[in-house]
Amino acid sequence: MPSKKELFFTHLGQTSPQPMAIEIESAEGVYMYGPNGKTYMDLVSGVSVSNLGHHHKEITQAIKEQVDKYMHLMVYGEIIQTPQLKFAQLLTQQLPESLNSVYLVNSGSEAIEGAMKLAKRLTGRSEIISCKNAYHGGTHGALSIMGSEKFKTAFRPLLPDTRLIEYNNKADLQHITKRTACVFIEPIQGEGGIISPKDDYLKAVRQRCNETGALLVFDEIQTGFGRSGELFAFMKYNVVPDIMCIAKAMGGGLPLGGFVSSHERMKSLTFDPVLGHITTFGGHPVSSAAAYAHLKYLVDNPQLYKTADKKAQLFKANLEKHPLVKEIRYDGFYMAVSLNDSDAIENFLALAAEKGIISDLFLFDHGAFRISPPLIMTVEEIEKASTLLLECLDILNNKQ
Ligand SMILES: Cc1ncc(COP(=O)(O)O)c(C=O)c1O
Repeated sequence: MPSKKELFFTHLGQTSPQPMAIEIESAEGVYMYGPNGKTYMDLVSGVSVSNLGHHHKEITQAIKEQVDKYMHLMVYGEIIQTPQLKFAQLLTQQLPESLNSVYLVNSGSEAIEGAMKLAKRLTGRSEIISCKNAYHGGTHGALSIMGSEKFKTAFRPLLPDTRLIEYNNKADLQHITKRTACVFIEPIQGEGGIISPKDDYLKAVRQRCNETGALLVFDEIQTGFGRSGELFAFMKYNVVPDIMCIAKAMGGGLPLGGFVSSHERMKSLTFDPVLGHITTFGGHPVSSAAAYAHLKYLVDNPQLYKTADKKAQLFKANLEKHPLVKEIRYDGFYMAVSLNDSDAIENFLALAAEKGIISDLFLFDHGAFRISPPLIMTVEEIEKASTLLLECLDILNNKQ
């Protein structure tokens, strides 16, 4: 009889030679539970997904109620489905008038694809600009604007007419011209290792887009729904995009994505040609019901995300004095801890998992580990996680 691990490696397509391969049987709050009572604290939230922690009562209740009413009825956009309406109304009530329409899809990558098509359709232009060290997803279009050649070469040819600029470099904004359809930016770079915008950078991007007629697209797929300390990072930095991409935490743990713009702009996907973007499962009613319950909870309990920076500060104060820690960056409850020895990161993560802490690498910053826990994490839980992380750092330090 093959073990679960053997089945995992044999019958599931893998993404890397060394996945975590940790078995989980249940999860609750900031904890995940393996067989034999092994407990893990979740410092990743499934990569910025489980904002309200695992097995959140309101969300699971909304899912159960919707499953009992109906699941898939028809491709997106044809039938009036209450969960989609409730979510779209509540979401757009939180946003400026220029972001009053959401097109629901299944994932972050698909939201990016939809936003690319919308920008091309609206401007009649083809050039798409994005930033070095940006991650926007794994589909061909999203991969075309990824900010690292290493991940792209093997899959070329990709989309033509894409260009990378350096994040936080205002001089590079000159590359945005009247040829540019749109500029994709994560308001806070995530996989680059949590890099915040400096010196009104986002305002400068906004201004350059206004000058050239290029559309500004914010990828809020990780930063959205409270991660940054505001409901959306654009609110923290006071720069409103023309299109916003959302996913990850959006579905309260179920798959859901969306691109948001004005009703006027969104209409362009309905003619010349009709069906400008189509998706079967986009805005699945069960995901939308979970999304509504999640967003309603956030809107009703803003202290959950308003305390994000304070909680990150607490982690920082606990960890920063350790001799192995080089730098801690955070923007909301979205943190990167850089170690002095970047080769030690993989060992550190393995040690942390042994001690019952789930953290992870960043795609483009190999010297740091990630802390982006559920927003519900309490001060006591932060203290407990910090103690465990310090123990791992001590073990590594003593081995060196
Ligand atoms: C900033 C950002 N954009 C887009 C994506 C792609 O989202 P998905 O994996 O849902 O396709 C991710 C996923 O990690 C992301 O972090």
